[in-house]
Amino acid sequence: MKVDVVLGLQWGDEGKGKIVDVLASGYPVIARFQGGPNAGHSLQFDDKKIVLHTIPSGVFRKNTTNIIGNGVVLDPVIFMEECRKVSEMGIPVQERIVISKKAHLILPSHKIIDAASEASKGDSKIGSTLKGIGPAYMDKTGRNGLRVGDILSDNFKERYNTLKNKHIEFLKQFDFQYTIEDKEQEWLNAAEFLKSFKLVDGEYFINQQLGESKKVLAEGAQGTMLDVDFGSYPFVTSSNTTCAGVCTGLGVSPISIGSVSGIFKAYCTRVGSGPFPTELKDETGEKLRSIGHEFGATTGRPRRTGWLDMVALKYAIMINGVKKLIMMKADVLDSFETIKVAVAYKVDGEVTTAVPYDTYADVEPVYKDFPGWKRDLTKIRKEEDLPFEFMNYVRFIEKETGVPVEIISLGPDREQTIIRQ
Ligand code: GDP
Ligand code: IMO
Ligand code: MG
Repeated sequence: MKVDVVLGLQWGDEGKGKIVDVLASGYPVIARFQGGPNAGHSLQFDDKKIVLHTIPSGVFRKNTTNIIGNGVVLDPVIFMEECRKVSEMGIPVQERIVISKKAHLILPSHKIIDAASEASKGDSKIGSTLKGIGPAYMDKTGRNGLRVGDILSDNFKERYNTLKNKHIEFLKQFDFQYTIEDKEQEWLNAAEFLKSFKLVDGEYFINQQLGESKKVLAEGAQGTMLDVDFGSYPFVTSSNTTCAGVCTGLGVSPISIGSVSGIFKAYCTRVGSGPFPTELKDETGEKLRSIGHEFGATTGRPRRTGWLDMVALKYAIMINGVKKLIMMKADVLDSFETIKVAVAYKVDGEVTTAVPYDTYADVEPVYKDFPGWKRDLTKIRKEEDLPFEFMNYVRFIEKETGVPVEIISLGPDREQTIIRQ
C-alpha cells in the first residue's frame, strides 16, 4: 500500500483540515509529517466545529489510527488541551493517536526565544505564530533537541534543565523580559500525560501498516509557499511543507508515495509578513476577508487576502508532483461581478511566469478577468448543478495547470463537498 498525500499549495489555511476529515473515512491511517501547533486545521460536521493544531484530522473517524510523525514538533501543553477538547466530544484519543518517539518537543523556552527573536527583528519580523516552531527545529538540526521518546528516560528532568539553561544563556543576547518558572510545572505535567499514549518507532509503525495493506493519508500543515526551502524565504516556516517532507517526516521511501493532492483556495490568503504579489489592500480584499471569515485559526490575526496566483500555484504543483487538485472556498466568490487571476508577473518591466528568487523584488501581477457566477454555491451537491461561469473558472485552472480539479469544496461543512467523477 501507498501513502497518499494532501498538502497546501499556497500560504497555508487552504482548508486541509476539512478535506482530510472528509477523505479520512477511506483511510485507516492518517499522519501528520511536519509542522506543529503553528497549524490550525478547522473541521465542521454535525453542527460541531473544532480546530486541531497537533492532532491529525482523521481523529473523528472510527477505526482510524492517527500518527504524529517524527517530523512534527510537539508542544505537550497544547497537545494536552487539544486532547481534552476532542475527548469531550466523545473521542477515545488514546486509542486513536500514536506518537513517534522521534518527534521533537517544544519547550516553554522555545516559545520565549521565538518571541525574543521576533521582537528583535523590528519591521522585518516574520509574523511567526510564536509557538516556538523555529527554535524547536533549530535545536533539532543543531542536535540539541529533546524528543518525545526522551520522556521515558530516568534523567528526563535533568536533560530538560540542561536544554533550558542553554536557552537562558542564548536569551542573554536579547533585550527581552520573560518569566519561565510559571510555565514549567504545567509543561512537565503535560509531558507526563504523553506517556498515556502509544509512543512508537514511527518509521517501523507506518511501514508495518503499509505492509498490512493499510492505506495511509499524509496531512500537510502550512503550505508550499511557506516551505523552508521553496517558500518566500525568510518569510517561511521552519519545515519542509512539501511532498518531500512526507518521506523524512514519517520514515517512508519515495516509492511508497501514492497520489499527491494539492489544496488551493479559489483566491489567496496569507497570514504574517512576506511577499504576496496578488494582495488586495482595498475594499475587494476586505470583502474577501469578511465573506471568507479570513482570520487565523491559531492566532485570530486577520489574514491578508488577494486574487488567485497561477504563477505560485504552478510552481507549487511542480515542486510537489501534484496529480489532483482540490479547490476550496469558491463560494466566497459567489457575489463577485468579476474575478481576477494572476497569470504572470511583471518583474523590473519583464513579464515572467517564474517565481522570482528575490523575495523583495517589485512584482506586479498580470491579470486575466473572469465573469462571476453571481449565485449561491453553498447548497449545490452535484457537479451538473454548478453554473457555467464557475465551471469556466475551474476549466481554466485545469487547462493552465494540466491537473484535474477532483474535489470542489463549497462551504466549511463536511457535507459541502463535491467529489467529481
Ligand atoms: P487549514 O489550516 O488548511 O486546515 O485551513 P483553516 O482551517 O486554517 O482555514 C480554512 C477556513 O475555511 C476554516 O475556517 C474552514 O472552516 C473554512 N472552510 C474550509 N473549506 C471551506 C469552503 O469550501 N468554503 C468556505 N466558505 N469555508 C471553508
Ligand atoms: P496551517 O497548517 C498559515 C505562517 C506564520 C508566519 C510564518 C512562520 O493552519 O495552514 P511559524 O509560527 O511557523 O514560525 O510562522 O508561517 N504560518 C502559517 N500561516 N497557516 C499555517 O498553518 C501557518 N503556520 C505558520 O503566520 O508568517
Ligand atoms: Mg490553518
